[in-house]
Amino acid sequence: MQDSRDLSRMYEVAESAAQEAGRLLLENLHRQVKVSKKGRIDLVTEMDLAAENLIVEHIRKRFPDHSILAEEKEKSSGSNQAVKWIIDPLDGTTNYAHGYRLFCVSIGVEVDGRIALGVVYDPVNDERFSSIRGSGAFLNDRRLQVSARSDLVDCLVATGFSYEEDAIRRNLEFFSRFMLRTRGIRRDGCAALDLCYVAAGRFDGFWELSLNPWDAAAGALIVEEAGGAITRFNGE
Ligand code: IPD
Ligand code: CA
Ligand code: CA
Repeated sequence: MQDSRDLSRMYEVAESAAQEAGRLLLENLHRQVKVSKKGRIDLVTEMDLAAENLIVEHIRKRFPDHSILAEEKEKSSGSNQAVKWIIDPLDGTTNYAHGYRLFCVSIGVEVDGRIALGVVYDPVNDERFSSIRGSGAFLNDRRLQVSARSDLVDCLVATGFSYEEDAIRRNLEFFSRFMLRTRGIRRDGCAALDLCYVAAGRFDGFWELSLNPWDAAAGALIVEEAGGAITRFNGE
């Protein structure tokens, strides 16, 4: 069990690390950054790694015994296994590599197997989405509430496509069905922000197949705390 003082200390670290990493990404956005391929279309830039190092250093300095799961490199179980930081240092890498200005940093903290807090920072728009479980969800200092629209024909929804060919094909099927039933679909290439946009009522819903824990850890809590529901495809 963590007491609320621990949670607010962790929140402060998550917030400052996300903001610093976000600013670092933004400063380097239009520089020729080194890009390499992890798969056919899956990229990693030198800035994914630089942002991850910055965040991990922040956490290690304050909480040397915590466990960390970060997308690119850091996968360490600390002596305190009850607390795990789940980090996407740059969500929206393809956007970033192409100079498309939509990307963010996502940091979630799991305590005893449940996400306890999350911060998603978009440095381009200087928007910080955050939540501590039980205390609501916020965009900077404004409290968030999901949209009340329930009729699909009035809804703007979002989706994303993972890098796996099979998942892409399967999602195209859902894509065409939603396209015919909703007001529109957006595919922004940044799952953590897609979730936060649901929390903010900008999107009425979001779905994706094959997300990784670091894509959704913070964003899913932010949606729930804004009054939204998170489910698997079977509705559970
Ligand atoms: C990706 C983005 C994208 C989503 C993919 C993710 P990355 O994360 O969030 O929108 O569709 O599933 O892997 O690679 O930019 O961190
Ligand atoms: Ca991601
Ligand atoms: Ca990433």
